[in-house]
Amino acid sequence: MEKTVQATIQLDGETVNFATGETIYEIASRADKFIPTLCYDPRLQPFGACRLCVVELKGSKNPVASCTLKATPNMEVTTTSERIEKFRKTLLELVTSENPTIAVSPLRSYASQELSLLVERYAADTQRFAGEHSGHSRLDDKNPFLLRDYDLCISCYRCVRVCAEQEGDYAISVMNRGFHTQITTEFNGILKDSACTFCGQCVQTCPTGALGDKKALRFAE
Ligand code: FES
Repeated sequence: MEKTVQATIQLDGETVNFATGETIYEIASRADKFIPTLCYDPRLQPFGACRLCVVELKGSKNPVASCTLKATPNMEVTTTSERIEKFRKTLLELVTSENPTIAVSPLRSYASQELSLLVERYAADTQRFAGEHSGHSRLDDKNPFLLRDYDLCISCYRCVRVCAEQEGDYAISVMNRGFHTQITTEFNGILKDSACTFCGQCVQTCPTGALGDKKALRFAE
């Protein structure tokens, strides 16, 4: 009879089982470990953009992104350390250099408080790297459903990915790179003229409130 092999890793010194294909982030979440994330959404393919989810991996000189790293037997992972927390705080400070307004109404979207809660938790200095920022709001898009306040965009691409991966609409995309990065529609138009079905998935996954539910906001802002 075939023997069942239990695959395990060492997570913060504890032995934890894992299933084939599980990432370190998924295993750590199951074990109730806190790892901050910004570009992660459990419904989407891992993206590895924000690097906030970094952990220490024995044998690796540099911290690794836990949301993209698949577990292999006997890995030794540390989810928090002085070095890791310093990395996370600096990364948050870099992200918020892009985002002049941290506090937005929670009515903008389900995930809209994710960035502000992390800034608070890490006491991140949002002015440390203040300067250029990418993404410009499209307040000229007068559709009655989705607020496009891209001045708050941190380029996590969750909106673009959810539109493609969950809805199959591919209505929004990314234009340019670096400080010129802009979430846009085909021909940089308004949503009504795009493939957008106004399903609202992009709004609900946005971690900064750069996208908002106009119907909810009518009663709040
Ligand atoms: S959550 Fe892992 S890189 Fe963003």
